[in-house]
Amino acid sequence: MDSQPNSPHVLIFPFPVQGHVSCMLKLAELLCISGVHVTFLNSDIIHRRLLRYNDVMSRFSRYSGFRFETISDGLPPDHPRSGNRVVDIFDSIKMVTKPMFRQMLLPGGCLNHMNNRPLVSSIIADGIMCFTIDVANELGIPIYLFRTVSASCFWAFYCIPKLIESGDLPIKEDDEMDRLLHGVTGMEKYLRLRDLPSFCRTSDLSDRAFQVVTSETQETYRANGLILNTFEDLEESALTQIRKHVPNLYAIGPLHGHLNSRLEAQMTSPPRSSNSLWEEDRTCMTWLDEQTPKSVIYVSFGSMTMLSRDELIEFWYGLVNSKKNFLWVVRPNSVAGDGQTIPAQLLEGTVERGYIVRWAPQEEVLAHPAVGGFLTHSGWNSTLESIVAAVPMICWPYYADQQVNSRLVGEVWKLGFDMKDICDRVVVEKVVKDLMDTKRDELARPVDRMMKLARRSVAVDGSSFNNLNRLIEDIKQINRSCNKTVTTHPCFV
Ligand code: UDX
Repeated sequence: MDSQPNSPHVLIFPFPVQGHVSCMLKLAELLCISGVHVTFLNSDIIHRRLLRYNDVMSRFSRYSGFRFETISDGLPPDHPRSGNRVVDIFDSIKMVTKPMFRQMLLPGGCLNHMNNRPLVSSIIADGIMCFTIDVANELGIPIYLFRTVSASCFWAFYCIPKLIESGDLPIKEDDEMDRLLHGVTGMEKYLRLRDLPSFCRTSDLSDRAFQVVTSETQETYRANGLILNTFEDLEESALTQIRKHVPNLYAIGPLHGHLNSRLEAQMTSPPRSSNSLWEEDRTCMTWLDEQTPKSVIYVSFGSMTMLSRDELIEFWYGLVNSKKNFLWVVRPNSVAGDGQTIPAQLLEGTVERGYIVRWAPQEEVLAHPAVGGFLTHSGWNSTLESIVAAVPMICWPYYADQQVNSRLVGEVWKLGFDMKDICDRVVVEKVVKDLMDTKRDELARPVDRMMKLARRSVAVDGSSFNNLNRLIEDIKQINRSCNKTVTTHPCFV
């Protein structure tokens, strides 16, 4: 649908890493389909990689109301921007990017010049960049926050002050990591100290990453609303708790399924909407075509995980010894000590039954009939993609929300096994065999049920479908009142 000159204009501003940019671009496309003007603000470096490895420009050229803008993340080009250095990105954005962002939004700034487009009528910013609320408030622009993590993880972050008050945090040296916590309402029966977001694993409350996630989460209430990439049937309990503190909540996920569903309603063969920041190696699809149904375990630890060489070798032995066929994504520069000699047994085992790529078209891989299991780091996008594709998971969480997600997958939803904090070839071999053979039938029913619920949520009249429509209506309503009322919004200065 084409946007009209008087349609609302939403500025979307993600935190510049793969998992955030990718799902916020899906939201951008969903808004474009509904006739909303969207400006998507990327960091320079992310934007260059997005254009290099994708056809986003031709995909988005269908929407007359869409455009990209770019901004610096303030870091030098050779900074690794990996999971173990994520705090550098937070700090740099707050210090360097924030003043630029404000400048760009001022009248005459590149985000707010007329040029046949309405001025920005609302902002959807990544919820771990709450400085955007200060800028939006100063300029009188309504702002919604989008958190890319699960509702359950958001809720655990929200409860951190309570966990400090009860003495559960900071973690002490002799703490029993398997002890249940009582401070995260609704999760008392299964959330252990071990399952708290990785940033809580510190004995120092002034730890920078811990401080950032705690304070950013507490500020959410200052926004006009909170958008989450989840659905009511999956995380009803956490959503209910969050609503007590942030009443205007929109659960609109799984976003990739939602986008596919709305595109399919419009056209017979919608284009693939990959937002990869690495070049996808599509030869793995041909390799998958040669495998028998549900025979392959897909292995990927997402976009930020760093493995030690020992961990790589343990996984590798576990996979080869399981005698299952495997497709493994080993991202460039993701293994410390890369380039060292690999034992011949592993190389031979891989030639026989494995296929290794640097980056895969993951959504398509998971949807391939040959894939019967997913060994994952439990990133939230990967978890949702696996749910929609009805693929059971082995979870080996690395950081952030992944510790929470993996607990839910293993203990609550029963969609797989949580292998948290263990990286041992014997365990890997056993869990892979369990997932692919011994316990396959046990997992089949919950996996199938959740896939159906996910798909139902984004179909017409499903909960996420209705929540997205409500968000779009609210954005339009704000635009209408902005056009009527004299405010400090730049369009009236
Ligand atoms: C991290 C967090 O863990 C996540 O929960 C948070 O919401 C965003 O930041 P990341 O490590 O990137 O995310 O994992 P994930 O959220 O799973 O996102 C990875 C994305 O990359 C997925 O959409 C996946 O489909 C894609 N991917 C991964 C590929 O397209 N190809 C690959 O080879 C690997």
